[in-house]
Parts: sequence; structure tokens; C-alpha cells
Amino acid sequence: MRSPIPDYLADVMTACAPDEGGQVADYIPELAAVDPDQFALCLTTVDGAIHEAGDSGAHFTIQSISKPFVYALAIQELGLDAVLAKVDVEPSGEAFNELSLEEGSGRPLNPMINAGAIVTHTLAGPPADRFDRVLAGLSAFAGRPLDVDESVYASEAATAFRNYAIANMLRGHGTITEDPAAVVRGYTRQCAIRVTTKDLALMAATLANGGVHPITEEEVVDDAVVRQVLSVMTTCGMYDAAGDWLTTVGIPAKSGVSGGLIGALPGQVGIAAFSPRLDEHGHSVRGEDVFRRLSRDMELHMMNAAQPARATIRRTHTVRHAEGGDARVYALHGSIQFAGAERLLRDLVSRADELPTELVFDLSDVHAINATARRMILEVIRRLTLEGHHVTLVDPGDTLPEPDSGSGVRPDVVGSVGEVSRTA
Ligand code: DON
Repeated sequence: MRSPIPDYLADVMTACAPDEGGQVADYIPELAAVDPDQFALCLTTVDGAIHEAGDSGAHFTIQSISKPFVYALAIQELGLDAVLAKVDVEPSGEAFNELSLEEGSGRPLNPMINAGAIVTHTLAGPPADRFDRVLAGLSAFAGRPLDVDESVYASEAATAFRNYAIANMLRGHGTITEDPAAVVRGYTRQCAIRVTTKDLALMAATLANGGVHPITEEEVVDDAVVRQVLSVMTTCGMYDAAGDWLTTVGIPAKSGVSGGLIGALPGQVGIAAFSPRLDEHGHSVRGEDVFRRLSRDMELHMMNAAQPARATIRRTHTVRHAEGGDARVYALHGSIQFAGAERLLRDLVSRADELPTELVFDLSDVHAINATARRMILEVIRRLTLEGHHVTLVDPGDTLPEPDSGSGVRPDVVGSVGEVSRTA
């Protein structure tokens, strides 16, 4: 049976295709010559399913979509404080190529506009091997080796007058100390890296998956880096249309002037669209339409309130303990964060008087527990133990690693409920 998802994506493309509004970017001569009717869409889940429609294997240059990924590489390399010292995170409300700096500090307002991205490029490594690191890093996000479109690079490098002006402004304020022209050439080369719509969807899905590529399983950057990057994409990724985008689409996003547009919805999907005609902000017209429809039809707005906490306790039941007496089993489920752990704690506290001595927490169906939920669950185990309970963890996947020796908590850890019960 064929999945309905690619059919749905194809329907979305059919609905968006008649719109021939907008113009291809013509300030880069090579981009002015592209076929404006190209159109592709790809959606990738965080566990690696890829759904494609249109010509999702066609190549184009990444342009500004490189900015969040190089920002991620710079933070991973230098640490957040060092990067924040050079580039702020405030939405500028300005066009992507504005000559603007924060008053006093000389920092660009954010890493998504060109001024910020040119500085961020210099933070991605020492000049001698900077570009190699950028290319390797973006390739890791894509999960395959990428290369450079030399014609687009040469075309933009010969005409990037505005970016040379921005780099000179940055050099004048001491924000960069290298030769401004060389920095712009490096940044322009970064923008000329060739990708497909499928590559971009996988790169976005790597962000949506906390920095781990859904297919290669390489941890490209830490989850704390991803949180910073997605936050900045949310507030600044769509430049002077960021507020409208956040309220209507609600997916952290980034666009590029060759017509690419990505969105990364944490924990769910990476999406990429490609269509070269741009609106006045430099975003793909049909790409934006695609995202509006996907967000609305598939309820992908990040502010939609999911309630995974309600599913944390899959069921509770009583078994006969192998040593005699009853044991209460809490079968937990899914991905547990603060609200899910709170629900478990609330249930335990409210039943404190009726709980048997033997308690079993079955984590077999838990696939992730964040650090906060882990602390909360270990603390309630500690308190239960002090109250005289004996706690056994069924944790075949080692989801809740052994607590610190200092905590005084020593629950037994077993591989299945059957090991502690007579009846299972
Ligand atoms: O710096 C530039 O002008 C281009 N290489 C990239 C600009 C861009 O993609 C803006 N985004 N929509």
C-alpha cells in the first residue's frame, strides 16, 4: 500500500503551483538565469522517514539557509558566550542585507541577517581550514558529502558589493579583524554550497532531532546548541517577516535567495520546499504557501499544545511479588519530560497511604527521559525508599541510569516485570 503522505504533499504542490508571483533573485547573475518554475517539497521525520514530492533531487545553492547551520557549528566550536560576544540574538525587523549594527558594541543584531552571518562565518574556524570545516559540518547535517557550485560562487563574489560594504563596516568597528574581502569570499562560498530539497529536509530534521542526524545517527551538534539555533530561527529566520511567519506558520524556519525554505519542528519533522520566485523579503513565494498549508492542514504550529504528559503512566496494575505479597507496577510510556514526571509524582503522592511496600516502575516502553524528569523520578524513588518502600526498576534500555552513589537510592534494576512477579 502506498503511504498517503507523499500524495498529500503532491496535492499541496498542485494547489500552490499556479502562483507565479514573485521574482527570481537577480542581484546574483547566475541565479537570475535559473528556471523559475522548479518546485519541490520534502518532509522528513526525526526517525528518518523521507516523504518527497516534485523534483526533490534537483540541485541549487543553499544561500542563507547555511546561516543557522554555520551558527550551530560556531557555537559547538567556541561555546555560546564567545559567539554571543560577537553577534547578538535580537530580531532586527530589517531586510537581510541591511547595513546595521547594535549601537555601542558593534555587534550585528542577529546571526540570520548578512552582517551577523558574515561574522559567524569567521567564527567557524581559523582562516586556513575554515571553509573545509563549514563544508564538512554542513555535509554532516545533510548526511552526505556536499560540494560547491563554482559558477554561482564566482558570479556572486564578483557582484557582492553590498556584502563587501557590510564586511568593511564590521572591520571598521573591529567586530572582524581579518581582510573584509577575504571574509566575504568565504561567506559567499558558504552560500554557494549545493544542496537538494531532500538534503535540506534532512538538515532541518537533524535540528528537529536535537542535533542527531535521523539516518546516519551522527550527533552533529549538542541539543543545547540546537535549542539556541532554533530559537534564533524562530525570532529572526524570516527577517522582517518573522512575526507574521511565527503567528501564521509557527515553525522555526530559514529561507535562501535561490528559493529554498526550511522549517524544523522540534521532536517531529524537518521540512524543505524549493521554488525560485521570491517575495519582497527574499522568501520563496510558493515555499511560504506550502508551509502555510502544511502548518494548517497537519497542525504543525509549534504553539499547538500537545499533552504527552497524559500518556506517561500507560497503566498501573498489581502483581504477586516473587517474594510474596503484592507489588504495584507503574508502566510508563513515551518521552518523559517535566510534566510527565510531575504526573507520576502526583499519582504516587496522592496514593501514598494505599501503596504496597513493593513498587515496580516499568520503563520498557519509555524511549527518552530528559535530565529534569530523571532527577524528579530518582528523587521520588529516594523518598519512597525512606518511607520504607522497596523500588524495582524494569529498565531493559537503561533509560534511567543508576543514580549517584551519594543519593542513597539503590533501586533494583531488572530486565522485565516477569523477574519480580509470579503472575506476569
Ligand atoms: O548574502 C547574500 O546576499 C546571499 N548569498 C544570501 C542571501 C539570502 O539567501 C537571503 N535569504 N533569503
